[in-house]
Amino acid sequence: MFDLDGKVALVTGAGQGVGAGISRVLAAQGAAVAVNDLHEDRAQATVAAIESAGGSALAVVFDVADPSAAARGIETAEKALGPLGILVNNAGVPAGMGVQQFRESDPAEWRKYIDLNLYGVMNCCHAAINGMCERGWGRIITISSGAGAIGINLGISAYGAGKGGAMGFMRHLAMETAGNGVTANTIAVGMIDNHADPSVAGHMAKTVPVGRLGQPEDIAGLCTYLASDEASWMTGQTIHLNGGNVTT
Ligand SMILES: NC(=O)c1ccc[n+]([C@@H]2O[C@H](COP(=O)([O-])OP(=O)(O)OC[C@H]3O[C@@H](n4cnc5c(N)ncnc54)[C@H](O)[C@@H]3O)[C@@H](O)[C@H]2O)c1
Repeated sequence: MFDLDGKVALVTGAGQGVGAGISRVLAAQGAAVAVNDLHEDRAQATVAAIESAGGSALAVVFDVADPSAAARGIETAEKALGPLGILVNNAGVPAGMGVQQFRESDPAEWRKYIDLNLYGVMNCCHAAINGMCERGWGRIITISSGAGAIGINLGISAYGAGKGGAMGFMRHLAMETAGNGVTANTIAVGMIDNHADPSVAGHMAKTVPVGRLGQPEDIAGLCTYLASDEASWMTGQTIHLNGGNVTT
């Protein structure tokens, strides 16, 4: 089950964290993976990890928030690896992301969140979708957050707006592409153990019913299912994956 042999995937923001974990697991299941990031060194590190495990990968450096760069990046990936079947929109944390209450915020700051979390997703989908529909097979997976579905914390309204916008976009994209064999689903991720210092991580873990923060591989498992042939009847859904701290 969930054999991705012969499939080509592109994962955005895959130089570290959740995207790197998704890339490693998709490659382990047989996909050739285009590893996107803004930072070449990070993308190359994920490629090296995949190759050292016997998988196939290519670094493709571009900014998902730039529509022309996204189109060129997907074209580069397809020339090198073959037609894209799986797109994972994972890039979503702007550089220097901080906590700022809306009434004290500057419009230039919010735009970074919308550009990355909403337009970034739309740019990559727009560049990939026609080829997938023409070939009659595609899997689009967007990594969102519980913060796009419920009020979760103070100071992250612009992030929540971007994530919620992407969820709404994906539901409607799914309706447009279902007849062409292309599914579109969203994973709303909870707190992942990839940055916080151990004392902060320990405190955060106490708020998660299963008693731990998520690992990138927790997300990668569901992503692999959504990317597979077996998931052809699953589309237009937002699936919360968070150890139980957001239930819907
Ligand atoms: N970490 C969490 O606790 C958590 C919780 C909920 C949702 N998420 C979501 O999961 C996804 C991954 O989060 P993470 O914590 O692994 O992030 P991260 O910051 O560890 O890694 C993200 C990567 O994306 C790259 N990136 C940033 N902007 C980019 C752009 N414009 N174009 C291309 N690449 C870009 C960065 O260079 C970085 O390597 C994000 O969408 C995030 O919103 C994370």
